Amino acid sequence: MKSLNTLFLLAMLMALAVFVSGISPGSGEPKGKINRFLSDRVVLKCDKYPKVCHIKGSAGSDCCKNKCVNLSTDVSNCGKCGKKCSYGKICCEGKCVNPRTNEKHCGKCGNKCNSESSCIYGMCSYA
Ligand SMILES: *[C@@H]1O[C@H](CO)[C@@H](O)[C@H](O)[C@H]1NC(C)=O
Repeated sequence: MKSLNTLFLLAMLMALAVFVSGISPGSGEPKGKINRFLSDRVVLKCDKYPKVCHIKGSAGSDCCKNKCVNLSTDVSNCGKCGKKCSYGKICCEGKCVNPRTNEKHCGKCGNKCNSESSCIYGMCSYA
């Protein structure tokens, strides 16, 4: 039984090596399960291979300093690479906002207060 496990592990490692070496510019995106496996387990360099950020399960489709990010929500790369939101702010649609007072992003991104309410401490409240 034990040797069977070892064999399985070896096969996995070999498969991994094949998948990783298979990713090169212009080779197209790997499909399905392999995508998730790769994006979870292997740190791929998006400066060389921007396509890795488009893999399903990636943190975002943009590449900043070799990391896949979502520029519309990443507080360290809000709207553009390296744009940090100051303390207490969150990134919504690529803009740093204060969720405690922002009427369009009250408490969280996209939580819009209606015209009769205002955002107070992150909650749409009727004054
Ligand atoms: C980035 O975040 C926005 C807001 O959550 C989401 O709609 C969008 O699909 C995300 N993009 C990627 C590539 O994950």
